[in-house]
Amino acid sequence: MNECQQTGLARRIARPPAVIGILGGGQLGRMMALAARSMGYGVRVLDPASRCPARVAADGAVTAPFDSVQAARELARQCDVLTYEFENVPAEIVTALEQESWFPQGGEALRISQDRLREKQALREAGFETAAYRPVTSFEDLQEAADEIGLPAILKTCRGGYDGKGQVPLRTGHDLQRLHGTMDAGGHWILEKWVPFQCELSVLVARGSQGETRSFPVVKNVHRSGILHRTTAPAALAPQQEARVQQWAQALAGRLRYVGILAVELFYLKDGTMVANEMAPRPHNSGHWTLDGCSVSQFEQHIRAVTGLPLAEPVVTRPTVMLNVLGQHYAALLAGIDTLPANCFVHIYGKDDVRPGRKMAHINCTGTNAAEARESARLAEELLQMEADHE
Ligand SMILES: Nc1ncnc2c1ncn2[C@@H]1O[C@H](COP(=O)(O)OP(=O)(O)O)[C@@H](O)[C@H]1O
Ligand SMILES: [Mg+2]
Repeated sequence: MNECQQTGLARRIARPPAVIGILGGGQLGRMMALAARSMGYGVRVLDPASRCPARVAADGAVTAPFDSVQAARELARQCDVLTYEFENVPAEIVTALEQESWFPQGGEALRISQDRLREKQALREAGFETAAYRPVTSFEDLQEAADEIGLPAILKTCRGGYDGKGQVPLRTGHDLQRLHGTMDAGGHWILEKWVPFQCELSVLVARGSQGETRSFPVVKNVHRSGILHRTTAPAALAPQQEARVQQWAQALAGRLRYVGILAVELFYLKDGTMVANEMAPRPHNSGHWTLDGCSVSQFEQHIRAVTGLPLAEPVVTRPTVMLNVLGQHYAALLAGIDTLPANCFVHIYGKDDVRPGRKMAHINCTGTNAAEARESARLAEELLQMEADHE
């Protein structure tokens, strides 16, 4: 009996050459579109930039702001099934389209992930531990919250932050006092206890339209200045820990009735405790290694989920270290691309505007074993002069 019969629900399928509409045309949209195109689907993207990274991989586009309901409806009219790649698409627009069109990914996980307080709550309900936290709406709240959970801590805006933006680390009472008079009335923040992590991890789970789930192996992440720098796949956790993390992530996807790829970022403590930090209901930067190191990429898996196709079983084919190439590394990458080790695979996003800190490309450094992948990554980092910005 297949999972479709088990749940008693008819599986809705978008058969190629059906057209997939993607809200958001960044690098995630581009890689989703490339996967969808190779699977035989048509692709349209909605993005405010007419030359967005996904545009060249799509066969049509709606150029409009993300908060335009009319534009989103126009995209829906041109497509058979919808998905989003970008967390800051207004959840209300997704929820509205969900009523009128086929949008299996849905608005609920998006709504939760857009608010760090709701997100922490949802992570806890699914079984994850989180750092101690308090909601903060004023400087007085902040003082009280800091007294309760203690310093060091980190103050984050509840909405709109990414790549470390909208965050203030508070090491001492002096750091806290400096915020006096700077917190706008009506603002919403979360004060989180600083987690003394040994390393950072993430897990990506795919949930299909019938509720079936498949997890990618847990990976290890290194951030620099709040931006992902390197992912090592697999992290090679103890099997019991791996199973536990995957189970919680699957429970989270199930509780949110989510369809597609869902990522959870975690901190790993010295004593083996794992603390969830945040989630992302979309393909995730820490899953880019799957393009060259796994039996199925996160992008194909996401497309399979939202089109109602069976999910593939993710199996690591080559240990991989993924390096993000930011604006400050981009010229060195282009100049030295012919000198990278042969087992490095470069993925360039086609962004015109090169700025420091902007994600321009990534390199998957593979190997027949983990040591070989690490060595390729070391050579690539050297070539891109990445040591210079070591913390
Ligand atoms: N409570 C915390 N304790 C320790 N480090 C943290 C904490 N929160 C965030 N960080 C660090 O900052 C990075 C970015 O924070 P995150 O909450 O993931 O926000 P973003 O949405 O910008 O990715 C994390 O990957 C981690 O390195
Ligand atoms: Mg993060």
